[in-house]
Amino acid sequence: MTTVSSTSISTTLTTPTTLPGPIPAAHGPQPGMRLRELVFGAACAAAVRAAARLGVADALGETPATAAELAAALQCEQQPLQRLLRALSCYGIFTETEDGTFVHTEMSRLLREDDPHSLRYIALWCTEPWTWQVWPRLDDAVRSGGSVFQEVYGKGFFDYLHQDAHESAHVFNRAMTTSSMQSALDVADLLDLTGVSVVADIGGGQGHVLASLLEKHPTVRGVLLDLPGVVAKADPRLREGGQLAERAAMVPGDCRQAIPVEADMYIIKNILEWDDESTRRTLANVVAAARPGARVVIIENLVDDSPSMKFTTAMDLLLLLNVGGAKHTKHSLCTRMEDAGLLIGEIRPVNAYLHAFECTVPG
Ligand SMILES: C[S@@+](CC[C@H](N)C(=O)[O-])C[C@H]1O[C@@H](n2cnc3c(N)ncnc32)[C@H](O)[C@@H]1O
Repeated sequence: MTTVSSTSISTTLTTPTTLPGPIPAAHGPQPGMRLRELVFGAACAAAVRAAARLGVADALGETPATAAELAAALQCEQQPLQRLLRALSCYGIFTETEDGTFVHTEMSRLLREDDPHSLRYIALWCTEPWTWQVWPRLDDAVRSGGSVFQEVYGKGFFDYLHQDAHESAHVFNRAMTTSSMQSALDVADLLDLTGVSVVADIGGGQGHVLASLLEKHPTVRGVLLDLPGVVAKADPRLREGGQLAERAAMVPGDCRQAIPVEADMYIIKNILEWDDESTRRTLANVVAAARPGARVVIIENLVDDSPSMKFTTAMDLLLLLNVGGAKHTKHSLCTRMEDAGLLIGEIRPVNAYLHAFECTVPG
């Protein structure tokens, strides 16, 4: 990946006047043009990906910069970079000023690696090379109702990721880190851990949710279960020498095979999005491991109750393609919990895009 100097471009130009941008039709583009724009969605995704990989947002500082200045900093060609920036400006990612320089917008700032709300790795994750191989097979997946990943790559998605696509696995971990860190504090705020001595995060990624909970509750102990390659890179706070390490245990494993963890509360966040059989086995393993009365909190994005339907439904289709999975509706998630024998309690929003389903393991 291109490395960008940490020094952002700085010029002596004064505050720019931004161009008005393309003149909007009274009620947005006509259907014919809107459809043309939509079918070029790949161009938009590719442009965002290119900007993220080149590090354009990191190179552009608070002062306006010309394409020539940016190209020099990024060691690329000026004309193509200008074309890339112009294309992105149409979507509100960077803005071109009247004097031909470029400045940040709210969205382009989110592509900076150092932005506190950075979406750089999410942008890369959603446009990784394997996504471009599977999207053209969406009609096949709709016909068959299942993943196309095995046919395209000859193995399952996570095996491919960890065995053959190390950069993609790294991007995945960074993207999950971003989204976990952004939602971990919301989860810690929402969950009442009264009476909980041990909390387990099943498929907990690098353990950001767990670390937030342990930080908030100094007497609680935690267990992180995820695939071996993932727990090996767990949040440094949880690992040996980390400030929470004495209260944290790592369990490398496959939650579809077994969940050898005794806890008072099990968290399962953004996991039950794969195929139904994996969901069935994971929930059955939690129920088998847990004592009667233990709490199970399932946290998911919903496709039927979300203010961000375009994003959630796009993820839903990608899950169909890569793991034969799905984002859930409230009803489909409740059905799976009931099938596993869990007693469903309160269902509450965690934040604008996640819901928590409180369940109990019956006696
Ligand atoms: C979408 S991420 C969610 C991570 C975390 N729960 C969160 O919300 O931030 C899915 C996680 O499931 C893990 N995973 C995938 N297959 C698994 C398996 N068979 N057993 C345990 N974890 C698995 C992945 O490694 C990844 O960390």
